[in-house]
Amino acid sequence: MSAFTENIQFDREDIEFAVPVDLPQELEEELQRLEKSFTVDTATLKKISKRFGEELKAGLERDADIPMNVTWVTAFPTGQERGTYLTIDLGGTNLRICLITLNDEPGGSDVKQEKYPLAAEIKTGAADDLFSHIADRLGEFVKKHVKDDEAKDEEGKVPLGFTFSYPATQHRIDHGILQTWTKGWDVDGVEGNDVADLLNKAIQKRNLPVKLVALVNDTTGALIASAYNDPDTIIGAVFGTGCNAAYMERVSQIPKLKGKGTTADSDASTATSEQSRAQKDDPLMAINCEYGAFDNSHEILPRTRYDELIDEQSPRPGEQTFEKMSAGLYLGEILRLILVDLRDNQLFFTSAKLTDEQNKALETPYILDTEFLANLENDGSESLSDSKSAFQKFLADLTPSFDELRFSQALAKLIAIRGARLCACGASAICSRIGTRYGHVAADGSMAVKHPRFKERWEDAVREILDMRMGALGHEGIELTNAEDGSGVGAAVICALTLGRTSSKDGGGGKVDGTH
Ligand code: GLC
Repeated sequence: MSAFTENIQFDREDIEFAVPVDLPQELEEELQRLEKSFTVDTATLKKISKRFGEELKAGLERDADIPMNVTWVTAFPTGQERGTYLTIDLGGTNLRICLITLNDEPGGSDVKQEKYPLAAEIKTGAADDLFSHIADRLGEFVKKHVKDDEAKDEEGKVPLGFTFSYPATQHRIDHGILQTWTKGWDVDGVEGNDVADLLNKAIQKRNLPVKLVALVNDTTGALIASAYNDPDTIIGAVFGTGCNAAYMERVSQIPKLKGKGTTADSDASTATSEQSRAQKDDPLMAINCEYGAFDNSHEILPRTRYDELIDEQSPRPGEQTFEKMSAGLYLGEILRLILVDLRDNQLFFTSAKLTDEQNKALETPYILDTEFLANLENDGSESLSDSKSAFQKFLADLTPSFDELRFSQALAKLIAIRGARLCACGASAICSRIGTRYGHVAADGSMAVKHPRFKERWEDAVREILDMRMGALGHEGIELTNAEDGSGVGAAVICALTLGRTSSKDGGGGKVDGTH
């Protein structure tokens, strides 16, 4: 055990430690300092999660940092949902369009899909370019894949689910006003406008036989797609470029819906005291938390100066505080900022002078991605040769010394461990809120799916926060599962729920009435 581990208090003794031994003293001290600022111990996790719960509650009551967006998805699927739907997923790197048939196998689906690259300029361009691009690709897709009239409704149109993974205020399910761009997007003319309307106009202009039925967040999609197959699903989460979750809330517990014609108009306090109240009197509403915005008031998260720098240099400083410390988009960038600092303080890259090109590469924001970070951490070779090649590849042939590689590996580990442990706070706060200690958190996103240690670290942290024993038997345990295809199948199932299309009339989850 290294000297650095002594001050850290975890509940579990077998928790991993990040730091290698036998580094030159200057580096060892620096690493010690970094380990201290990046370590989130159990007591801090608990405090963060408690505060998280308070912010979730505030968002259900009023305009607050965490928006707790009402989605108008008001039922879990039963697996009996049917029909054929088009879906669009506006992702970070690709635009994915699918034609999805929910087939007769319970929870089954047939999928035809195409991916179209999204040029980086589109993400920071103008609204018209973005929505024209989407509608043009949709037109190509329909021409190629929608062969017969079977998929069309009585108006001759195919229903469409649009997965738009940004915070949107929805007054109905087929509508959504963008609150703010997140994840580095900055398309002019969209914030404050209805993205469904912008897409509809582009579709109408091209006369496409398509009708937008539902606007869906990726987390709500993950929740519904996974519940379609796994009834133990309690939360849909994304730990990818961004970080967020959706879950089902009781309408009586959403005071801000009062006056909107839902059952929230009955007294919430009465609702909670009547434990036996029938479900039909207190229906469900999926909430897209948008909890990347947690702690925007900077009260509880242990931010480092690197987190502050990321925020300052982002297109929306002051927003998405939690996401900027824990999501995939930012982890590689945190590593890069520390490496720059180490260089500037003459602790790193001292043996040979860096070339102008190498300095320029190192100073390029977001040049190191989360995959770089994960590969660095997982390089099990003694000489760290793969990591050396990765540095050379990404940073203009920059070749770190062996000690620098070992230091960087420890750093990658510290950053990833902190990210996974912070991510656990959001889900734990939701579990506490809905009073559950058992269930599956269906997760999508590069960190959850591709980072080999994320699941274990996240589950350990959830257990620490909720005081659960390792391997507890019976109905206790929050497990991270792989989400089903939320932006495809999830969006299609939400269309089916919205239109009330089920294989049996009384077996369905009920028509979603987005016009409450
Ligand atoms: C960002 C978005 C949110 C999305 C998440 C994961 O936090 O604001 O809508 O769910 O990223 O993609």
